[in-house]
Amino acid sequence: MTFFPKPRKIKAEKYVGGLSRGIQWEYSDDAIKLSANESALGPSPEAIRAFEKNKNNLFRYPDDDSEDLRDKIAQTFNTIYELKGIDRRRIICGAGSDQIFDLICKVFLARGDEVIVTQFGFIMHRIYASLHKAKIRFAKEKNFRASVDEILKKVTQKTKIVFLANPNNPTGTYLSKNEILELRQKLRSNILLVIDDAYAEFMNKDDFSSGLELFKNASNVLITRTFSKIYGLAGLRLGWGYSSKQIIDAMYKVKPPFNINGAALAAGEAAIWDIEWTQKAIKHNTLWTKKIFSVLKECKIKANEPTANFFLMNFDETKINSKNVFNKLGKKRIILREMKQYRISNALRFTIGDKEANERFIKSIKEICK
Ligand SMILES: Cc1ncc(COP(=O)(O)O)c(C=O)c1O
Repeated sequence: MTFFPKPRKIKAEKYVGGLSRGIQWEYSDDAIKLSANESALGPSPEAIRAFEKNKNNLFRYPDDDSEDLRDKIAQTFNTIYELKGIDRRRIICGAGSDQIFDLICKVFLARGDEVIVTQFGFIMHRIYASLHKAKIRFAKEKNFRASVDEILKKVTQKTKIVFLANPNNPTGTYLSKNEILELRQKLRSNILLVIDDAYAEFMNKDDFSSGLELFKNASNVLITRTFSKIYGLAGLRLGWGYSSKQIIDAMYKVKPPFNINGAALAAGEAAIWDIEWTQKAIKHNTLWTKKIFSVLKECKIKANEPTANFFLMNFDETKINSKNVFNKLGKKRIILREMKQYRISNALRFTIGDKEANERFIKSIKEICK
């Protein structure tokens, strides 16, 4: 008998990304991808220039500790956003915020530990927690919105981490500043609260505060940020985490060397510093989320209030169900995200695109749902 090396049994779901062109629809070269919450306008021209300039350095290893990028992040928040006291030593950069989730699970979790996520919380949180052998406990949501009480009900002596994306993807709902503060206050102080701020820049609600604003001085919160959304650099894989020096130092110990490529570092520095471009992206999003929200209402499609750069749309009150809407939009070369992996029935997620994409979506959805 011949034996072969076998990997261990891996008990984690596989992440299914938003569909791209060319997969299902043969005529999809000019398809519009609105399935991955990517940026509508793309990156700042300054970021593209920095990316191109980096071509002269391709033979060099990148800066292992992202020194310049961390300086630029701290400088941007301290001066331009006046979030005083952002300390570069409390920042760690990752290949996407994804890598930050991986690192935090690596330094906190062992078999037998428990991690709390919310019922429809961003899936990568629980994927990493499972890969690091934790048991996942799901806190019920109410009307697709996280609940502080339900999260607290799931706490046991074994709880190590609570993950919360605020606002959350795919639901688009958020907890208010007061609710988040209440959650932190009522959680045992040695449980780490991870607040995923991936879409915080898009938010303009009076009762909302980002994780970074609320917890920049805390020692039991990790905040994650990404360059994939407002900064339009999803393809370069860049994100960062902010926490106590002790936690960040532990993450540095397990971080792979040279985890971020030089092009991403250069583009990231330029992107975060280009405030005008960031403002333009926010303005575009605010305008189109408002417009599209009213179109959805007109079409009897239920959706979350405008928050981030996407809507979770429910088709219970329309004549047509989500599967048929998905296929009909696909035939019109508009690709949305199905919600099977999140087990949300009769729903699709739509990402705000550029003007042309949004107009094409509006025209098509009106035709399909009338
Ligand atoms: C809530 C949330 N967090 C994190 C991410 C991933 O970000 P990154 O591209 O930085 O890994 C996403 C991407 O869709 C997201 O929706």
